[in-house]
Formats: sequence, structure tokens, C-alpha cells
Amino acid sequence: MSYLDNFINRMTAQRNCLDLAVELVRGVEGPVLEFGLGHGRTYDHLRQNFPDRDIYAFDIRVSPNVFVRPADELLFLGDIAETIRTAAERLPRKAALAHSDLGLKDRQGAVPIVADIIAYLPGLMAKGGFYISNVDIALVDGEVPPAFRRRDFPQATGDQYHIYEIV
Ligand SMILES: C[S@@+](CC[C@H](N)C(=O)[O-])C[C@H]1O[C@@H](n2cnc3c(N)ncnc32)[C@H](O)[C@@H]1O
Repeated sequence: MSYLDNFINRMTAQRNCLDLAVELVRGVEGPVLEFGLGHGRTYDHLRQNFPDRDIYAFDIRVSPNVFVRPADELLFLGDIAETIRTAAERLPRKAALAHSDLGLKDRQGAVPIVADIIAYLPGLMAKGGFYISNVDIALVDGEVPPAFRRRDFPQATGDQYHIYEIV
């Protein structure tokens, strides 16, 4: 598979998952969390898919090239390792959906930030909500933590994306 094929497959899986999420969280109230605003491509897709929900974005900084800048009250600026610890104080209610695209190509290098996410995310999310990630959270301990249940949607995810229900 060429790098171009791999990139297209990854982006297709990402969009499939964000579209599938509309059905997954239809009966779950609450906002959406976006870890990794970047240029705002997936943020904008989430805005399109969830026009009636607030979408909170987490990133170290807002890129000068961002397509859509979230309102200040929807932004958590700084290292997620820090901002996720106190995010509950600013969120008006538990979230229905979280999506993570932190560009973590080095799987071992990703362990610390994924460990922070799996430690604090369940406290930010409603039961029955969903977490969608381009990184398998089982990479931290070799298994999916008890607060999460892996849900398989092979046609949507290929082997590029991971979907977990908050239980
Ligand atoms: C691949 S980009 C996100 C692309 C975005 N989803 C889009 O579609 O445009 C990854 C982003 O994650 C952010 N990021 C990576 N590690 C982070 C961390 N520990 N805390 C906060 N932001 C982080 C980077 O600053 C970068 O903007």
C-alpha cells in the first residue's frame, strides 16, 4: 500500500467514524469533545454532524491556519495532560462524544498522553457515550481499561480507528 493509499484510508476511516457517531450518540445528551483541533477539519465536520451540540476543542495552541476558530469559551488551550485534569470544572455537563486525533505517529511516545486521557476522560463523559480515537487505548496496559468497552465497526474503521463505549 502506498503512503497515499494509507493516508486516504486513514481519512476515510476518520470521516466514517465521525458520521457513525451521529447514530451512536443519538440517545445520549451532552456536548462533544475534540482532542486535537489542528487545522479544524474534523472540528468543522463535527459542527456539521452535531449542529445542536456545543463542541469543545482541546489543543496546545490555535493554529494560525485553522479553518474554523472555536469561540473562546469552547477552547481548552494547553497540554491536554494538564487541561483534561480540570476540564470538568468548565464543562456544563458530561459529554456524549469525544474524538481524539493528536497526530501520535510514534505509538510508544503516545503512551503518556493516552494514559492521561483514559484516566480522566471517563469522568468527563456520560455513560453510554462514545470515545473515538486514532490510537488504540489498549497500548497503555495491553488491555482496554474497565471504564471503556471496545466496539467493533470494521466497515467504518478498517484498522485505522478505534471506537469505545463509556460503560
Ligand atoms: C493531527 S493534528 C489534528 C488535526 C485535526 N483533527 C484536523 O482535522 O484538522 C494534531 C493536533 O494535536 C495537538 N496536540 C498533540 N498533542 C497534544 C497535547 N498533548 N496537548 C494538546 N494538544 C496536542 C497538536 O497541537 C495538533 O494541533
